[in-house]
Amino acid sequence: MALALGFAAASSLFLPHNFTRFPKISTSSSSRGRCRVRHVSTVICFASDPQQLKQARQDLNDLIKTTRCNPLLIRVGWHDAGTYDKNIQEWPKRGGANGSLHFEIELSHKANAGLVNALKLLRPIKDKYPNITYADLFQLASATAIEEAGGPVIPMKYGRLDAPKPEDCPPEGKLPDAGPPSPAAHLRDVFYRMGLTDKEIVALSGAHTLGRSRPERSGWGKPETKYTKDGPGAPGGQSWTVEWLKFDNSYFKEIKEQRDQDLLVLPTDAVLFEDPGFKVYAEKYAVDQDAFLKDYAEAHAKLSNLGAKFDPVDGFSIADAPQTPIPEKFVAAKYSYGASEDKKELSETMKAKMRAEYLAFGGSPNKPLQSNYFLNIIIFVAVLAVLASFFGGN
Ligand code: HEM
Repeated sequence: MALALGFAAASSLFLPHNFTRFPKISTSSSSRGRCRVRHVSTVICFASDPQQLKQARQDLNDLIKTTRCNPLLIRVGWHDAGTYDKNIQEWPKRGGANGSLHFEIELSHKANAGLVNALKLLRPIKDKYPNITYADLFQLASATAIEEAGGPVIPMKYGRLDAPKPEDCPPEGKLPDAGPPSPAAHLRDVFYRMGLTDKEIVALSGAHTLGRSRPERSGWGKPETKYTKDGPGAPGGQSWTVEWLKFDNSYFKEIKEQRDQDLLVLPTDAVLFEDPGFKVYAEKYAVDQDAFLKDYAEAHAKLSNLGAKFDPVDGFSIADAPQTPIPEKFVAAKYSYGASEDKKELSETMKAKMRAEYLAFGGSPNKPLQSNYFLNIIIFVAVLAVLASFFGGN
């Protein structure tokens, strides 16, 4: 008995923290993914199987390379998540990233025109990997498409449960209109309902750096332009940018300048440079691509989690490398008293600390800090070490 208890305790120590245990008595297929067992036993399941998610990511990469369907996949992830209502507590009634977009009823909403093509592309992957949820597949496809187009690595987590039935689909009209009477107020109504901020509205709109609008789907855009008449992918539509399969800050540059009739500017795009609350970010992103990529990655990750219910509760990562922000490299020359533009001043606290230590070593309060300050410390420590060894030896 003691041995069995010891084994159970030890085995749970070796389990990854994000595994869930729950008893199963028969083969089952549910929104939690599939768990196969023959006898009463304890099995370990997630909403989605991490290994299958990783394999699906590889298949998505291949699919994107051959079909150049990045924009469509991004739009699927966005339209599944973008129905979220933070004022509704109950899952899945609150909408959001719960996979409900795969149900016919939601797919046929006017805002989702054309997304049936994305579902067709994703179907073979869903069939090949039955132990991943639609909710995870949509968000995985979107994040992979961004990265594949040269965009930032998005700090994603997985384990989203699927809304079980078509009745769980949100009502029509939760996603934004492109041409409302008051675009700024409308964007705030819709995105604030999701718990997103002005900064996130602007950053996320930057996803329009990719893709095209087609009049036969949304009613917006030209049937074709000089940038879209030959594809890649199915020709036609009107893009927001010249290189509409490359993820960068060109959307903000183009919307600001509006120099080319062949590039699309929706009323909800134009307002980003008109409304004072949005403009501050749009102007910044037009000149600072790194700032855009960083803010986009954060906003996208937040969008992808809206309304989602995770199993395990904190979700899990399938990143190949740890997703921690890279700290700025310390370049000594940047932190000096020189007058160069990109040199930074030491903080007042740091200066005060250095001065206090300097004075403690007998430095004169009337003299500036000397350049041999660190040498003094090294000599002092060395003297201490010699003294210690001398007295210690006796
Ligand atoms: C800010 C409010 C937004 C409005 C009003 C809007 C509206 C539109 C419209 C009208 C289209 C054209 C659809 C078509 O004709 O096929 C479109 C396409 C697209 N949207 Fe948005 N959108 C918004 C926000 C977003 C966000 C937040 C994302 C992603 C994070 C996004 C990603 C895309 C992409 C990638 C396409 C291109 C799809 C393709 O080429 O097939 N949009 N959007």
